[in-house]
Amino acid sequence: MTLDEHLARQQATLASDQARGMALVVSRIGSVAAVIAQELAHAALRVQLGYAGGTNLTGDQVKKLDVWGHEIMTAALRKSGACAALVSEEAPEPIEMPEGKGSTGLVVACDPVDGSSNLDVNGTVGTIFSLRPSRGWDPAGPAALGPGTEQIAAGYVMYGPATTLVYTAGSGTHGFTMDRATGEFFLTHPDIRIPQKGKVYGINEGNISTWHPGQRAFVEYLRTPDKATGRPYSLRYSGAMVADVHRTLLDGGLFMYPADMRDPAKPKGKLRLLYEVAPMGMIVEQAGGRASTGTERVLDVTATEYHQRAAIIVGSPDDVALAEEFYRR
Ligand code: AHG
Ligand code: MN
Ligand code: MN
Repeated sequence: MTLDEHLARQQATLASDQARGMALVVSRIGSVAAVIAQELAHAALRVQLGYAGGTNLTGDQVKKLDVWGHEIMTAALRKSGACAALVSEEAPEPIEMPEGKGSTGLVVACDPVDGSSNLDVNGTVGTIFSLRPSRGWDPAGPAALGPGTEQIAAGYVMYGPATTLVYTAGSGTHGFTMDRATGEFFLTHPDIRIPQKGKVYGINEGNISTWHPGQRAFVEYLRTPDKATGRPYSLRYSGAMVADVHRTLLDGGLFMYPADMRDPAKPKGKLRLLYEVAPMGMIVEQAGGRASTGTERVLDVTATEYHQRAAIIVGSPDDVALAEEFYRR
């Protein structure tokens, strides 16, 4: 089954206008993904690696491919006719699109190139997206978007040895693999179910000195041998959230990016709520997993800034529940 055929079958769970908008947008993102995969494969040859100069709103040094990815995503969403506004990692303010303001119009939040530190070393990168009803697109501010439970669909593309698109429209999480010859996506991983408990965790342990004591104790626990509970867990960390969440979704276990708690009154997450944390939360929950900030469900958090950051602990339900227990202790 192709991605477009699968999108057409999602009508049952969504209001019909929303389902039409969702199918138009996700299908376009699939087409953009095929172009991005091509560009990544030739980036070194086309002198497209390296920095563009300048930083984005969250202070990251922007790479040439971040800028290019943002531009082609913006153009494609405009053409879809179903995107009323785009919140992109690479634009300080939402980009309004009058073309997509009708009843099918959606607000799309997107990280066009996730894991850009991997670009220049030929490592895996991704694209993350989240769709919400636009309600006529109210530029009143980010809070008008509501919590993550308002998302009607979310997904990511992983540019690895194969290009994979995983999405949910609220009835399970489904994975597609691109045929490189045609750029078309085919369903290869229907209804993904995350294992109840895993054997692998992913976290940037270089930041250990900044973590909440519960987070430190939890990682220490995962590293301590104990046959009965399957410890120690193995550590895997790629530097691209998409790749780390994809492995977690298929093999189980945890991906974590906890807050910097050096000032306990001001916890500082790194990953952004609207286009990284919330969509991954929905995708993993729809596969039977859980996503937490350590103290609350990720999908219950409402953004007060478009580029707001949040902590995330996402993966197998038993593993996430245990992490939360360590935060409570
Ligand atoms: P982006 O490239 O979109 O800014 O996202 C990078 C993110 C995410 O993909 C990854 O999990 C994390 O940053 C890695 O951060 P560290 O280098 O701090 O581990
Ligand atoms: Mn990212
Ligand atoms: Mn990015």
